[in-house]
Amino acid sequence: MLAGGGGERPRHAAQGRTGDGAYSVPFDDEVSNPLEEEKDMKSIRFVALGGVLALGLAACSGGGAGSSSGDETNADPSDLTIGVAMPTETSERWIADGDAVKSQLEEAGYTVDLQYAADDIPTQAQQIDQMITKGADLLIVASIDGTALANQLQAAADQGIPVIAYDRLIRDTENVDFYVTFDNYNVGVQQATSLLVGLGILDAEGNEAGATGPFNIELFAGSLDDNNAHFFFKGAMDTLQPYIDNGTLVVKSGQTEIEQVATLRWLQETAQKRMEDLLTSTYSDGTKVNGVLSPYDGISRGIITALQNAGYGDSIEAGLPIVTGQDAEIASVKLIKDGVQFSTIFKDTRKLAEQAVVSAQAFLEGDEPEANNTEDYDNGVKVVPSFLLESDIVYADNIQSLLIDSGYWTEEEVAAGQAS
Ligand code: GAL
Repeated sequence: MLAGGGGERPRHAAQGRTGDGAYSVPFDDEVSNPLEEEKDMKSIRFVALGGVLALGLAACSGGGAGSSSGDETNADPSDLTIGVAMPTETSERWIADGDAVKSQLEEAGYTVDLQYAADDIPTQAQQIDQMITKGADLLIVASIDGTALANQLQAAADQGIPVIAYDRLIRDTENVDFYVTFDNYNVGVQQATSLLVGLGILDAEGNEAGATGPFNIELFAGSLDDNNAHFFFKGAMDTLQPYIDNGTLVVKSGQTEIEQVATLRWLQETAQKRMEDLLTSTYSDGTKVNGVLSPYDGISRGIITALQNAGYGDSIEAGLPIVTGQDAEIASVKLIKDGVQFSTIFKDTRKLAEQAVVSAQAFLEGDEPEANNTEDYDNGVKVVPSFLLESDIVYADNIQSLLIDSGYWTEEEVAAGQAS
């Protein structure tokens, strides 16, 4: 289990990225519903909800357990149920997220219906359908396929149930009311930066450190149906491209498009297989891969296994390339401590959970949650008001200060490479 239950306000809430043109939304759809329309729509929805509730209250006093009856704006939290849909329990980050959201909501007095969907899209759709049928008053959803929930969210909207997208944007629907996440573009920048640091091109402060290579690198991205994967890859490529252009970095396979380097469902085995294939197709001439951009710790471990099996050695010192990551999963934190994986990105799930809870409370009290970004997260139908948190790069030498001192992992867990 993760140590520390959260409860404090985020120490460093990210400022919203302004429209500096540094990146664009990853899909081509046009914005058809600007924010103002969304606000109007939401007011209408709440007015409609109020009307339905008034009728309901007139018809019968007091709602049944778990029903969405009762005026949310005055309701006692204990009368309200929040459905929390999480993608999978195979990755410990989502277990941590689920635990943190549940415990913080329960601390605030709400009843919580937490479901995991084993990374199966129909299962998640069904779980959300059931949450709605059972009378959820609000939904918090970390989607598996961000494009697959439009029907469920329409049903939620029809019943005036606010929906908060958690970490992953839900696309192609107007019925997502708020988005809590990290600055995903910046996560990609951080991943690429740590790759450049590991190769000696940059120092830890981000200054040019002198190495000019050329270094052979390979690129991995996440699941194409996860909006975040596009943001991570864009941030990373914007950072790496100048070094590719000047010949310091060489993507020897030539695979630089996200469609070529994506990893469906973020699966470790899939990444291992692709790394094995790359070693066979591109490096059997005796050349070595020096660095691998990996967007997630599970993928990193698959890549590292492939490299170790191919004789690259057990550690970076013994010849493994620089491999990046994300999520500060405990198995990878140990690998970083042991000099096997080079870096990861720490996204404090306790703070994300807290932001989801604060936003949920705002909706349930009849307010709008506070957004710090109203520009970047276009879901194909509208720009979803968002709250972005900051992330940190983890290297071997700051595991203590970032992860242990903050109570995210204990020293024993890091030593064991296992959550206790
Ligand atoms: C992304 C998330 C990452 C990582 C990945 C695989 O959506 O933002 O932090 O967890 O999924 O689970």
